[in-house]
Amino acid sequence: MNQKDMIKEIDRLKKEKDVIILAHNYQVPEVQEVADVIGDSLALSRAAAEVDNKVIVFCGVHFMAESAKILSPNKKILLPAKDAGCPMADMITAEDLKKYKAENPNTTIVTYVNSSAEVKAESDICCTSSNALKIIESLDAENILFVPDQNLGRYVKEKVKNKNIELWPGFCITHHRVKGTDVDKVRKAHPDAEILAHPECNEEVVNAADFVGSTSQIIKYASESDNDKFIIGTEMGVLHKMEKDNPDKKFYLLSTGLICNNMKKTSLKEVYEALKNDQHEIDVDEEIRIKALKSLDRMLELS
Ligand code: 13P
Ligand code: SF4
Repeated sequence: MNQKDMIKEIDRLKKEKDVIILAHNYQVPEVQEVADVIGDSLALSRAAAEVDNKVIVFCGVHFMAESAKILSPNKKILLPAKDAGCPMADMITAEDLKKYKAENPNTTIVTYVNSSAEVKAESDICCTSSNALKIIESLDAENILFVPDQNLGRYVKEKVKNKNIELWPGFCITHHRVKGTDVDKVRKAHPDAEILAHPECNEEVVNAADFVGSTSQIIKYASESDNDKFIIGTEMGVLHKMEKDNPDKKFYLLSTGLICNNMKKTSLKEVYEALKNDQHEIDVDEEIRIKALKSLDRMLELS
């Protein structure tokens, strides 16, 4: 089937099966184009909780589809690319967290949504990159463990001086590998461009950035800024919307390494097959789901 026919079929199946397609900002352009909602992790969690379609096709990675199931247990949640995971989410297990909690009973656990349902279930509250600072500032807690992303955690810790924040040593393999020397190189080539970076980047990159935010916050900033050149310090998928919304502005990727292989596992073909064959359905154990829901609901109430 050619791409045009596939898009037509996706549209037809969407109506026939009462499906909504949610896509993360890192998805490939053609998948973003067939999506009903495109956004960052927070916007997609909100959408998953609010929409009333029978089926959600979640174009992203496993923890995102799992969060949708936690928030909307009566909907069928499909992840088109079965093995699209997040290496950062795998850097902590529920067992690790249980052990930590037994040794540190007076610590509040704040968990980045890039984590498994089991880890969320052992947490006090979740956050995303767009609300982490607000969530931590609002907590009435002296001691906090932030899991699993050390970079997002450190970014918040530097701004919140009245709490003890311990960081789990996890990281995003895509963002963490960008170096300060990459910043120097691109800055030299485009001295009047603004640097927009994701807080999953390491300290050298975040400190050099003119703006730090979630994927949607970066996209919004680029549209609203008077500047016309930007160096982008997050996964390359965001370039599609930025270039589409701002045809007169120039965008340069901070490093050619800013590509997440897991986010790129979903092509139009996987989306079509997910719709046609109702694959691959995501399920969460009910006991885990109820506990994880508490952490996600607390986050949504505070965002
Ligand atoms: P946000 O879209 O929430 O900024 O998340 C980035 C990310 O790495 C998702 O895996
Ligand atoms: Fe995970 Fe990083 Fe890929 Fe996001 S970009 S899904 S944090 S590996």
